Amino acid sequence: MAEVKIIKSCKIGKIERTLFSSFIEHMGRAVYGGIYDPASNYADSNGFRNDVIELVKDLNLSLIRYPGGNFLSGYDWKDGIGAVENRPAKLDLAWAQLEPNTIGVLEFNKWIKEVGAQIMMGVNMGTGTPKDAAELTEYCNHPSETYWAELRKAHGESAPLKVEYWCLGNEMDGKWQICSMNAEKYGKKALETAKMIRWIDPNVKLTVCGSSGSTMPTYPEWDRVVLEHTYDNIDYLSLHKYYEFPDFDKSRVSDFLASFVDFDAFIRTGQATVEYVKTLKRSDKQIYLSVDEWNVWHTKEGSCDEDRWVVGPKRIENRYTALDAVVFSSLMMTLFNHADCVKIACLAQLVNVIAPILVEGDNHAIRQSIYYPFWAGSHYANGLALRTFCECAHYKAEPYGDTPNVYSAATYDEDSGDISVFLVNNGNQDESAQIRLIDFEDLQVISSERLVYDELTDVNTFENPERITWGNGGHITPQGEGNFSVTLPPISFCVVRFKEEIKGRNQK
Ligand code: AHR
Repeated sequence: MAEVKIIKSCKIGKIERTLFSSFIEHMGRAVYGGIYDPASNYADSNGFRNDVIELVKDLNLSLIRYPGGNFLSGYDWKDGIGAVENRPAKLDLAWAQLEPNTIGVLEFNKWIKEVGAQIMMGVNMGTGTPKDAAELTEYCNHPSETYWAELRKAHGESAPLKVEYWCLGNEMDGKWQICSMNAEKYGKKALETAKMIRWIDPNVKLTVCGSSGSTMPTYPEWDRVVLEHTYDNIDYLSLHKYYEFPDFDKSRVSDFLASFVDFDAFIRTGQATVEYVKTLKRSDKQIYLSVDEWNVWHTKEGSCDEDRWVVGPKRIENRYTALDAVVFSSLMMTLFNHADCVKIACLAQLVNVIAPILVEGDNHAIRQSIYYPFWAGSHYANGLALRTFCECAHYKAEPYGDTPNVYSAATYDEDSGDISVFLVNNGNQDESAQIRLIDFEDLQVISSERLVYDELTDVNTFENPERITWGNGGHITPQGEGNFSVTLPPISFCVVRFKEEIKGRNQK
């Protein structure tokens, strides 16, 4: 039995729409053979796959980080502009593939408009210079009468793209990164780049690279040093985190389910580092966190030793199980539970490469298991995140320690009165949960929904694309005075939605 108390006045922070962002890298079959495949039956007149556009649109994304990833640190954006037939094919050293440069910034901009999102643009801080980054800003955002702005116009985009969100490089702390560097060097380079980008367009929002994971030997010192250099000139500190379970080991399922405990600690450390530097600098300015890569990633799958130097080789195409989707759900809920400091989060990635969407040849694109919890979050988590107080049994997980059997998060939209309660049952038995909504007015149940599957190892395939799906979450029993009970199936993710009927407001 679990009791989940939600008090109307216990607010964490606003759920920014940018929490529902994603990531497309020029990697594997994300771009070539993913969003873009002119040979496919589903291709539109630009070569973009309509079936992919349809599934991406329904995810209701805010930003899409582009063009990398590790790819970014060797990429020259100037190779991807102008007449396609004149663009050079280059080796991408990050993923041992061939980059034809058929898709560049303006083509991607066309695609992103189709899916209703905005670009979060990465600038190359590996082989690239601050000057390259400034020129990209000028090409994208300056209205006219300069070399780069006029070139964009000549390439068919008369209006500035107004790219608002920019990333100053990618994972520059990692030895795998092209031209990685230490925190001192990166901090200085990021600062000079930030100054130039902002001088060109004062409206931009800038993200610096924090640690690429908590297992890095330089973590979290890297973040402190980088922030000390850049604090006054940037807006977000980036954090990346993936969780894996490469060999499905039945005896360790509850350990994997505890991944959110570690994610929570990782975010708290990021926030503490921001607060430390803010205090050190006696600054009034608040920097927020951008968790711009997060997901489950079974690192074993898809190595760079296969299909080297071809366009669109298979790279890390994870098949996500039902268990992965439950772990993914509690990671997403952890973002909601830190809505006061996490303002951007990018599900990494979007199509084929560790992705919620898979495509292959003339098969219609399919939703992987992780698609559903993200969809539920992006549609149902609106307004404010509210603190949940959950009393339930706990267990000890390896290596993350104390873990509640039931994990919860809640949101409340003051405009519509919609309340969404997100619940994960980590236990392998039915759990009866009592939801207590305190200080709310007339409450109506809107729906109870959940991830539906048979076996933890189930996956969706092109032959059986809806083996795992989204469906009815079971009966909600009202018990008076804001109390409701629901039964959570073993290892499950459920969303229970209510409406607070306040006279006048809901009639608007
Ligand atoms: O998302 C796949 C890779 O993971 C990205 O290219 C890199 O930033 C991270 O290590």
